Amino acid sequence: METSLIILKPDAVQRGLMGRIISRFEEKGLQIVGAKLMQITPELAAQHYKDHASKGFYPGLVKFMTSSPVLVLAIRGNGAIAICRSMMGATFGSKAAGGTIRGDFGVSNSFNLIHGSDGPEAAARELGLFFKAGEVLDWKRAGDAWIYDLSSGTPE
Ligand code: RTP
Ligand code: MG
Repeated sequence: METSLIILKPDAVQRGLMGRIISRFEEKGLQIVGAKLMQITPELAAQHYKDHASKGFYPGLVKFMTSSPVLVLAIRGNGAIAICRSMMGATFGSKAAGGTIRGDFGVSNSFNLIHGSDGPEAAARELGLFFKAGEVLDWKRAGDAWIYDLSSGTPE
């Protein structure tokens, strides 16, 4: 099982889209294992987006991410990191395909509603930045036997 770090960005929170976005992940069969409403500090935004520090859009990105509360989620499932990325859609709202979160809920290229880890290494690093030990919960979901085929012993 993989766990991805998802951030519902300030525009998603301000626009009242948290519930609808979370519902998409739940309906897909992914499991919410961590959740936190928080205001990101400039220091945390800088750590999170350190790979973009030299880019022209970086100052605006940090300003946006720290401008208003975000909802941080840890989302788990088989292949969860790639599944979340495909559900999010392309980076720019103007380009993201219909049926994706960015494609269905936004048009902006900067205010693009959601962040998702782009690989296992990034996920581990980002989960460590946003969640303390014990805040990501290993809880047993009653419906797992109908979400995955568990007959071989591993979820399929
Ligand atoms: P994210 O990290 O937030 O999940 O987004 P992403 O992987 O799809 O895109 P990435 O290239 O990592 O860019 C991070 C965030 O920076 C903003 N951005 N603005 N104006 C621009 O050219 C531009 N390019 C990127 C977006 O908010 C993007 O999500
Ligand atoms: Mg990225």
